[in-house]
Amino acid sequence: MVKRISGFSKLSKQEKMNWLATTFFQESSAAKKILEQYWNADEKLQDLHDDFIENTLSNFYLPFGVAPNFVINGTDCTLPMAIEESSVVAAASLVGKFWSTRGGFYATVLGTKKIGQVHFMYSGTLESLQSYFTAVKKSLLQATENITKNMRKRGGGILDLELRDKTADLENYYQLHVSFETKDSMGANFINSCLEAIAKAFEKEGIEIVMSILSNYVPECLVRAEVSCPIADLLPPNSPIAAEEYAQKFKNAVDIAHIEPHRAVTHNKGIMNGIDAVVLATGNDFRAIEACAHAYAAKDGSYKSLTQCEIQDGIFKFWIEIPLALGTVGGLTALHPLSKLSLELLQQPSAEELMKIIAVAGLAQNFAALRALTTTGIQQGHMKMHLMNILNQLGATAEEKQVLVKHFENSPVSHSAVSEAYQKLKTA
Ligand code: MEV
Repeated sequence: MVKRISGFSKLSKQEKMNWLATTFFQESSAAKKILEQYWNADEKLQDLHDDFIENTLSNFYLPFGVAPNFVINGTDCTLPMAIEESSVVAAASLVGKFWSTRGGFYATVLGTKKIGQVHFMYSGTLESLQSYFTAVKKSLLQATENITKNMRKRGGGILDLELRDKTADLENYYQLHVSFETKDSMGANFINSCLEAIAKAFEKEGIEIVMSILSNYVPECLVRAEVSCPIADLLPPNSPIAAEEYAQKFKNAVDIAHIEPHRAVTHNKGIMNGIDAVVLATGNDFRAIEACAHAYAAKDGSYKSLTQCEIQDGIFKFWIEIPLALGTVGGLTALHPLSKLSLELLQQPSAEELMKIIAVAGLAQNFAALRALTTTGIQQGHMKMHLMNILNQLGATAEEKQVLVKHFENSPVSHSAVSEAYQKLKTA
């Protein structure tokens, strides 16, 4: 049976669902019911979500939670987080509270420069291209005046425009490399519009424009977040291990992620658990953030940890440096009611403030993971949080869940152990 269709996007939502349900599902009405189950009762709200993308049939929910008790540069902060992984919000909450009594997090923005490029081919001499570029450079900037007007009023705009010779890497390949300040907007549309206007004004016979597009690699849109405290404050009094030993083990774990890419990828994945959750909750583009973070982690030629740790004169210091291109205006930030709410929860931060908050979320998540990994191991906490997922999978009732959560307070959680305890409870 052919499972293709033309003109799908022009069908109504009902028609799309009918086609999908009858073409791909044995129980077509059950499939439709699942899709409908996630529609919002408020039609206007559903229409808003329908318009975010093409061919919307339903909504795909992620849990939206908060991690309270963060202190960032002396200010109290509750982080909004959208994520499906059970332990992430719990870990963030623990770590927020832990550092709130040890001076909190300190974060600083190191740069906000964004990048865009016009990629083109030219087979003439470099000298002739250079003199053409010098002659038209001013008019290239003028070609963007209408687009940059509002941004310039907000203190942003085009910072620099240069010709780059890339012919050593690819025959006839050059770029117009443009840097931007986009203030509180992530700036993707602004940058791309500027680049297309520049490319149009630059094009002439002999210059073949290949494409004009922002770069998601923004190593100079950079933020640093750190925590530090006396080593003795890292553990509660009467801990079974010495604080010095624990601090050194923690530092070893970070150092391993600096020289071992297999570990570094998992280490950074844990950082992105915290970062993506706040990025998503605030309506920002997590794919852009991910792509850039990993490129930055590999900037020295091998893939490394995004965090660093130092122990000096009895002080433990742990920090992250990460490029984050974020917006607090435009895009989904104002459109999605939960993103709007998240930004209000964060007291309407500027893009720079949001960079600091999100870097802190990443650092906190990494601290939680390394603390667990170097002490109890990760599974104890993970499986405790996973218990509810297993119980839901097994179809446990609220009363059964209550009994089994109590039971597993003092015994190790595994899928088989939970399943066994559940069966026992049912047959008791
Ligand atoms: C799991 O989502 C993240 C961790 O694997 C991170 C790490 O190993 O550092 C726990």
